[in-house]
Amino acid sequence: MSVVIAIDGPAGTGKSSVSRGLASSLGARYVDTGAMYRIATLAMLRAGVDLEDPAAIAAAADVPVSVGFDPDVEQTYLGGEDVSTLIRGDDVTRSVSAVAAVPEVRARLVRLQRELAEGSGSVVVEGRDVGTVVLPGADVKIYLTASAETRAQRRNAQNMAAGLPDEYETVLADVIRRDHLDSTRAISPLRPADDALIVDTSDMTQAEVIAHLRNLVEQRTGAVR
Ligand code: DC
Repeated sequence: MSVVIAIDGPAGTGKSSVSRGLASSLGARYVDTGAMYRIATLAMLRAGVDLEDPAAIAAAADVPVSVGFDPDVEQTYLGGEDVSTLIRGDDVTRSVSAVAAVPEVRARLVRLQRELAEGSGSVVVEGRDVGTVVLPGADVKIYLTASAETRAQRRNAQNMAAGLPDEYETVLADVIRRDHLDSTRAISPLRPADDALIVDTSDMTQAEVIAHLRNLVEQRTGAVR
């Protein structure tokens, strides 16, 4: 049986690693919708689009975005160029909220995300609005949460592992600021779907979350292939 699994939630819940791990363990395809907003943002930064001007962003929304389905390899392309590393840069991370808030950008990427979710076999689609907007008919909807403090600790640890200074307080303030922006924006605000299963990952390891989600998927759908 093929299942469509939507995984949403804020940054720092371990969402990407867990979504990839779940897809890998189910032999499912994987779609990272956040990467698509990042690719569009990179293209606009390169083109010198004024990101304070929603009309300018809307006019530039037709970006050649493509992503691969393999949960074990990051494959993100702008035109034919592999931009998997570039889209994780600070400049893209800082600017992506402005791009993701523009309805024309969302309409275009949501259409593409729905096309990607179709096709044969199971698929895990990860983002902020997958269960609410992109795939409201998904078989299983999961909303990952964790306390702001836990998420800030995780991000700070990642930064330190990458050689950046210990800036826990700044990171925590940024997590709280982004939560507020994402959950109060007018279009597709971050919130769980009414029928989402809410999983708090604060006190769980990544392996525990993946095992828990596998159980939830099996309970909801029976055997998955
Ligand atoms: O998950 P991420 O950090 O790669 O997401 C990048 C940005 O895109 C983040 O600011 C939220 C936004 N986003 C969105 O608005 N809708 C989605 N479905 C996925 C991401």
